[in-house]
Amino acid sequence: MTGFIPRDRRWHPPALTPDYKTSVKRSPSFAPLSFPTSLPEETGPMFRDDMLGPNDSDLIHNFAKAGESAVGPRIIVHGRVIDEFGRPVPNTLVEVWQANAGGRYRHKKESYLAPLDPNFGGCGRVVTDDHGYYEFRTIQPGPYPWPNTMNDWRPAHIHFSVFGHSFAQRLITQMYFEGDPLIWKCPIVDTIPTREGIESLVAALDMSRAIPMDSLAYKFDIVLRGRRQTHFENRPEGL
Ligand SMILES: [Fe+2]
Repeated sequence: MTGFIPRDRRWHPPALTPDYKTSVKRSPSFAPLSFPTSLPEETGPMFRDDMLGPNDSDLIHNFAKAGESAVGPRIIVHGRVIDEFGRPVPNTLVEVWQANAGGRYRHKKESYLAPLDPNFGGCGRVVTDDHGYYEFRTIQPGPYPWPNTMNDWRPAHIHFSVFGHSFAQRLITQMYFEGDPLIWKCPIVDTIPTREGIESLVAALDMSRAIPMDSLAYKFDIVLRGRRQTHFENRPEGL
C-alpha cells in the first residue's frame, strides 16, 4: 500500500485537557504560527550504529560501576520503527529515558522520596538496523506520584524520542507495560481519546524474547504517521 494517508485529528488528545493540570498552562492561547523549516532541519542529522558507545543501549550497565549493575527487574525492550505502510525506518536514533526501579529520576529537580540507585543513570540510545529493528536492555521502572490532584500516580513508563530522518521529524512518546492497572487511572494517559490509541503505547510481554534466568522482554513497535500511528506527545497531528 502506498499513497497519502491524511491526518486523523481524532487520534490525539486536544492540547487543553484540564484534568491534566499542566496542560492548562502549556496549551497555546493563540492560533499557532507556521514557520518554514530550513534545509538542515529537513535533511539531517544522519545516524549510524557505529556512532554510539558500546553500552549506550544497556541501561543496566551504562551508568554502573565496573562489575556492578542497576537494581530492578531486568528487561529487554525491542521492536521495530515502521512507517504507515509497514516499511522499516532504518538508521533512526531511538533515545530513551526513565525513572529507576523505585520510580525516581536522576534529575536535580526530582523531589520524590524514593532513593537514587547509584548504578542507574536512566537514559540510553540505539540506532535502528536495516530492518527498522531496535533493542535495548534496562530495568523496569517503578511508578511514581506526581502533583496533579490529591493522589495521582504515573504508570511505569519509558520515554521515547524517535528522530526519523531529520530534526524536523523528531517524535516523542511514552511506552507503558502490559497489565499495569495504573495505565487506566492516569490523567495523562486519559487525555488520549480512544482505547486503541492508548493500547498503541502498551508494550506486550514477549516471553519468546526473554532470556531464561536473566531478563524478561517487552515488544514495542513504533509506527510513524498514518492510521496505525503511535500516539506522540509533540506532534498532535502526526508528521
Ligand atoms: Fe516520566
